[in-house]
This record gives sequence, C-alpha cells and structure tokens, in this order.
Amino acid sequence: MDMGLRGKSVFVAAASKGLGKAIALEYAREGAKVTIASRDERQLEAARGEIAAVAGSSPFVVRMDVRSADDIRAAVRAAVREHGGLDAIVTNAGGPPQGGFEAFDDDGWQSGFELTLMSVVRLIREALPALREAADGGRIVNVASMSVKEPIRNLILSNVFRAGVNALTKSLATELAPDRILINTVAPGRIGTDRLIDLDRKRAAELGVSVEDVQRESAAQIPLGRVGTPEEFARAAVFLGSFANTYVTGQALLVDGGIVKAL
Ligand SMILES: NC(=O)c1ccc[n+]([C@@H]2O[C@H](COP(=O)([O-])OP(=O)(O)OC[C@H]3O[C@@H](n4cnc5c(N)ncnc54)[C@H](OP(=O)(O)O)[C@@H]3O)[C@@H](O)[C@H]2O)c1
Repeated sequence: MDMGLRGKSVFVAAASKGLGKAIALEYAREGAKVTIASRDERQLEAARGEIAAVAGSSPFVVRMDVRSADDIRAAVRAAVREHGGLDAIVTNAGGPPQGGFEAFDDDGWQSGFELTLMSVVRLIREALPALREAADGGRIVNVASMSVKEPIRNLILSNVFRAGVNALTKSLATELAPDRILINTVAPGRIGTDRLIDLDRKRAAELGVSVEDVQRESAAQIPLGRVGTPEEFARAAVFLGSFANTYVTGQALLVDGGIVKAL
C-alpha cells in the first residue's frame, strides 16, 4: 500500500524516544520530511542519528517543551519554514504522574491539564493554518492511552484529561472536515518503552515484588500474551496519519493486544 507520504512534511511532538520516536522513524521510512521536537537536546540528537541511519534522511530537530505555548509556536513555525509547509502533525507528550484522586492538589491538576490536554489544543491550533494549506488535506494524530476507553488504576490525570483529548478529536473531526483535515486518536495499551518500565518499577516497589513478576502478571492479562513494541504501535499511528487514510476520522484506535474489553 502506498502511504502517500513521500515528500510530505510531518511534525512529531515528544519524539526523542519511545512512541514518538518510533512514529517519526516510520514516517521517515515512508519518505516524509520529519520534524522531531522535545526538551532534551542530547536525547533528540541521538534520535536524529538513529532515524537518519535507518531511514537515510535526517529529521529536522527542534527543542520544545509541550507545556510552553511559546515553545510550541516557535517549534511548529520553524518546521513549517524548514519544510515549506506542513501536511501532518502528531501530538504527544510525556505521561502524567501516577496517583489517585487525593494525590493531587490544584497545582497537580493544573499541570496535568497543561501537559496532557492543553498541549494537544495548542499544537493543533498552531498547526492548523499550515494544515489547511496542505495540498492533499491535513492529518492529525493524537497519541493518548487506552484510558480513553477504560480508566486505569492510579492514573487519574491520564483518565480525566485523555477523555478530553478523545472528545476534542471527535469534535474536530466534524469542524475540520470541510478543510479536508482528518483527525484521530491512537491509544496505546502496554507498549515497551521507558514509560512502561518506569510504571512497572513503581508497581513492583508498591507490591514488594520483582519487576519481572509485575511484567509476567501484566503480560498474562493481555490476550496476545505480551506487551507491544513501539514499531507495532507506530505502524497503526502512521496509517491514520497518512494519505492512504482517506476516510477514517474522529476515531480512537486502541493498539493494545486486546486488553481493553469494552465494545
Ligand atoms: N508506553 C505505553 O505503554 C503507554 C501506554 C499508555 C499511554 N502512553 C502515553 O504515550 C505517551 C508517550 O509515552 P512513551 O511510552 O513514549 O514515553 P517515554 O518513553 O517516556 O517517552 C516520552 C517522550 O516524551 C517527551 N517529553 C516528555 N515530557 C515532555 C515535555 N514536557 N515536552 C516535550 N516532550 C516531552 C520525552 O522527551 P524529552 O525528555 O526529550 O522531552 C520523550 O521523547 C505518554 O503520554 C504516555 O503516557 C504510553
């Protein structure tokens, strides 16, 4: 299948490692002109080298903290300048901190809101003028979590604010359709990245068991019997954010090995 991405300009947020980097790599493999943006310049440089080695073309790199409106504006504008426009954007960020309802005061809730929901609002707002100019229409992919379908224990900030991302996706599918912009959410279950290892370590400490025990127990709950790889996740995300996708919009696609049972 031709993904229609050759020469397209694609911006991937929070792409120095994990899911964002895997998505950027898949886009680069498909011949897109990729911009990767996050906070840690050393990590970004390592990602740039890795993507260039595999895909044969070097992504454009910009430093950006998704909690800063100014950083987002500067980063998206730099990408548009560098690549002469923008055809697709992937919104993504680091995961919000763990905790239940009583773990967060007003400041904690406010920073979860800024990181997980407002970053998506701002990235999309900043990208829209260029996406509206894109020759084949624009594509927006929001990286969220399986919490859009089923709340996760001890991750209340993710549960609450990703529901907002899901509602934003559905609302914008209608608002942006006249501009030929398709928007979807891609929702990871348990994908093997640093974030997952970090969550598993915390769970192991909480239960007083080994990380391997937590990982075994968690794999046993997944119908496919294992956590997913970033590449598996990225292939689904890149399809939604490609020009092979011409009729899927407003959806939340779980990439979770079957763990969520909700219809
Ligand atoms: N992996 C999973 O199984 C899973 C499941 C459900 C949901 N998710 C969600 O998917 C998203 C990506 O997760 P991941 O597994 O790829 O995590 P990860 O391996 O920890 O990578 C996080 C990425 O986000 C960047 N980042 C963090 N804070 C940022 C900020 N304030 N501004 C800009 N970039 C920032 C990091 O780069 P810098 O340090 O360079 O900024 C890094 O590139 C998270 O929201 C996570 O909660 C993941």
